Amino acid sequence: MGRLLNKFVRFVIAKATKTGLEQELDGAAQSGRLAYDAIVPIARRAAAEGIVLLKNENVLPIQSTDKVSVFGRCAVNYQPVGYGSGGDVREPYVVNIIDGLKEVGVALNKELLECYDDWLARPKNTPDEGFWGHWPMHFPEMPLTQELVAKAAQSSDMALVVIGRAAGEDRENKLKPGSYYLTKLERQMLDLVTARFSRVAVVMNCGNVIDMAWTRDYGDKIGAIVYAWQGGMEGGNALADVLTGRVNPCGKLSDTIAVSYDALPSAQCFGNREYNNYAEDIYVGYRWFETFAPEKALYPFGFGLSYTNFATQSSGSVNGTQVEIKAIVKNTGALAGKEVVQIYVSCPQGTLGKPAKALAAFAKTKELRPGESQELILSFDLAELASYDEKKSCFVLEAGQYRIFAGSDVRCAQEILTHTLSTAIITQQLSEVMAVKPEHAFDRLVNRNGKPVYEQVPTATTDLKKIILDHLPKEVPFTGDVGLKLADVTSGKCTLEQFVAQLSPQELDDISHGEGKMNSALGVAGNAGALGGVTESLRARGIPPIIATDGPAGIRIKRTCALLPCGTMQACTFDLDLIKELYSAIAEEMKRHGSHLLLAPGMNIHRNPLCGRNFEYFSEDPLLSGKMGAAVVNGLQKAGVSASPKHFACNNQETNRNRNDSRVSERALREIYLKGFEIMVKKSAPHAVMTSYNKINGVWSHYNYELATTILRKEWGYNGLVITDWWMQKSASPEFPQLKNDAYRLRAQVDVLMPGGDGPFGSSKVGRALLDTYCKPGGITLGEMQSTAANVLRFALATM
Ligand code: BGC
Repeated sequence: MGRLLNKFVRFVIAKATKTGLEQELDGAAQSGRLAYDAIVPIARRAAAEGIVLLKNENVLPIQSTDKVSVFGRCAVNYQPVGYGSGGDVREPYVVNIIDGLKEVGVALNKELLECYDDWLARPKNTPDEGFWGHWPMHFPEMPLTQELVAKAAQSSDMALVVIGRAAGEDRENKLKPGSYYLTKLERQMLDLVTARFSRVAVVMNCGNVIDMAWTRDYGDKIGAIVYAWQGGMEGGNALADVLTGRVNPCGKLSDTIAVSYDALPSAQCFGNREYNNYAEDIYVGYRWFETFAPEKALYPFGFGLSYTNFATQSSGSVNGTQVEIKAIVKNTGALAGKEVVQIYVSCPQGTLGKPAKALAAFAKTKELRPGESQELILSFDLAELASYDEKKSCFVLEAGQYRIFAGSDVRCAQEILTHTLSTAIITQQLSEVMAVKPEHAFDRLVNRNGKPVYEQVPTATTDLKKIILDHLPKEVPFTGDVGLKLADVTSGKCTLEQFVAQLSPQELDDISHGEGKMNSALGVAGNAGALGGVTESLRARGIPPIIATDGPAGIRIKRTCALLPCGTMQACTFDLDLIKELYSAIAEEMKRHGSHLLLAPGMNIHRNPLCGRNFEYFSEDPLLSGKMGAAVVNGLQKAGVSASPKHFACNNQETNRNRNDSRVSERALREIYLKGFEIMVKKSAPHAVMTSYNKINGVWSHYNYELATTILRKEWGYNGLVITDWWMQKSASPEFPQLKNDAYRLRAQVDVLMPGGDGPFGSSKVGRALLDTYCKPGGITLGEMQSTAANVLRFALATM
C-alpha cells in the first residue's frame, strides 16, 4: 500500500513539475496528434501547388454532378513519401485519395470502391512495406475484369486511374516493370478503363519521374494526366483540391520528362558501382534536351497546365550586366489561378559552347481572378549565367549576343530581349579545384556549333599538398582552463578565440565527433545524434548538446510529426515564400520536440530519374534547387532552429553510395552540381552543411579539402559547420600519408564526424585525429583542431 502511495505521490509531483508544453506533448504523443497543428493547412497548400497538370482535354476539373470510378490500389494505399531517413516520419495520419475525394464531396462509384476494399482486406494483398533498402517499389494491382470495368463505366461519368511508385534511400529504381516501367497489370488496367470510359484522368502518385512513353499509346483515350508526386499526410486532400478545381493547378515540372530512358543524357553513364563518368557534362536535363534533342522531351522543364489561361507581356532592360524584366500576367480565362513566369537566357556559343537555354529567374503570381492582372519584376545579373573556363580558371561572360526569353516553360518561352557584349567579361577569377585526376580522364560532351562533340576533359594540375600547407589555420596559444563559459562569448566577456584557447587536446578531439550513436539519450527519442556538448567536460564549459533530427519530409523522431510533400513536389510549386512558410512551421514543431538541427534540405541534382533519393531532392536545375534550398534554410533558421543542407556533393545515385566515385569535370561541378549549393549558401547561410558519402574525382567528400575548404569556405565565404553524413569510410590522405581517417577529415576541415562512434563501417576503429598525430611531425596541428572547435562553437552559439 505504502509503495503504491509513494508511486502515486511521485506521479503527482512529476505531473505538477512538467511544463504545460511537456504535458501537451505527452498528450499529443499518446493520441498520435501533432504537437503543432498550424502546419496542416500549409502542408495541404504546398502539396496542392506542387501538383503538375500535364494534359487536360476537357476532362478536369471533376464537376459536382460527376460520378467518378476510381481505379488503382494506390488511391487507397497512397504513397505519401519515399522510404529511408528522408521520409521515415511518424505521421499522425495520411489522407489517401479516396478520403480526399470524399472529403470534398465527390460522388464515387461505391460498388467499385467496395470491390477494392474487399480485395485489399485479404491478408495476401496487404501492402508489404519491406525493410531498410528493400522497400517495395510498387504494390501489385488488383486484376480487373471486362465485366467490372464495363459495369463501372455504365454507372459513372469518368474514371480516375492511379499509378503509384515508391523509391528510397540506399537503393536505386530499376529499369523494370513496377519501378521505372508500368507492370502488366497496370497496362491491363489502363487498357480496360480506356476501352470503356470516354473521360479518363490518370494520376501519377510517384516520388520520381517514371517512364511516361505509354501515354502516347493511348493518345486521346487518356484525356488528362496529373503528376501528383507524393504529397505527405495531406496528399489526398491536396489532390482532391486540384482535381475538383478548388485549387487551380499551378505546379510546374522541376525536371524534363523524356520520351524514353535512352533519350536521357546520363543513360549510358549512370548506376555503375565503382565510378561514373559524368560524360554529359553540363548538359543535364533540359540543358541537353533543348540544345541537342528537343524532340526527345515528352514534357519540357517548367511545364504545367492550368484550368484557366494567362496572357503574359514581358519586356526588359539591361544595365551593365544587370537585367530587369517586367512581366504583366493577365488571367484571360474563366477561373481564378496562379501562373509562374520563367526567364531563360541563351548565352553566345563562344569558345566554350553553351546550352541553348538556362533558367535565370522565376516568379509566381498571386491568385488572379478572371480578368485580373499582376505585374512581376524579375531581376538577375548575367554574371549568374557565366560559364566556367577550365583553361583560365575563371567564370566568364563571352562576347556575343545574350538572348533573353520569358514564358511558362523552357520550350515555349519567347525571346523578349537581346543584349550584346562586345568584349568578354571575366566575372570571377578563381583557381583550379577538384579537377578530374589525369589517370581517370574521359571524354565529355561539348557543344560545337550546335553539334554534340566529345572531347577529353581537362585534368588536375594542382599541388594540393602545397595549397593545404600554405593555408594551415593559425593556432591560438593554449592557455589551459581559465574558467570561461560559452555564455561569456555571448555576453562579450571573452572572444571565441579566448574560449577555444582553454580547451584541452582531449576536448578539442571530442568536439570534432558526435556523441557516438543515433538516438542519443541527450535528446528526443529517435533523434539522429548529438554534437557539441557531447562530454561532461564540454558541457561543464557551457557547451550545450545539439540534437540533430532527419528531414527533409518532416521530423524523424519517435513522436508524431507532420509529414510534408516530398522535395521534388516542393520544387514544383515554384513558390519560395510558400516553402519558407512551410519550414517556419516545421521549425516551431522542432522547438516543441527539442530538435535543434534539421538534416535538410536535400539538394542533389536530379541527374537521372532512377536515383533512389530523387524524391528528397528538388530538380535537375541548379537555380531552382538553390533557391528552394535557401527557402527551406531561411524558413528554419529565421524561426530559430538550424538547417544542414545535404549531401555536399554529387550524391546522384544510391548504388554503392559509400564507395562510388562521381567523376565530373570542374566545369560541370561549378555550373551544375555545386551551383545549387552555392546559391543556397549565399542566400541563406546555413548553420551546417553535410558532406556526401561518395567520392568526387577520387576523393571522398568527407576528406575533400577542396570541397569543404577551398570552395565552401574560401570561395563562398561560408563560416558555419561541416558535418559528415552518418559515419565515413576509412582512408589515408594521399598528400599526407601519416594522416588517416579522422586526421585526414580534420585536415579537410570537415569538422564533425556524425554520429561519432561505432558505425556500420567500423568508424570506432578509425582512430582519433589528435591522439594519433597531434604535435607529431607532419601531424594535425593545434590550429586545425582549434579551427574545427571554433566552427562547432559558432554553430552552437547560433543554435543556443
Ligand atoms: C543519410 C542522411 C541522413 C543520415 C541520418 C544517412 O544514411 O544519407 O541523409 O541524414 O543518414 O539519418
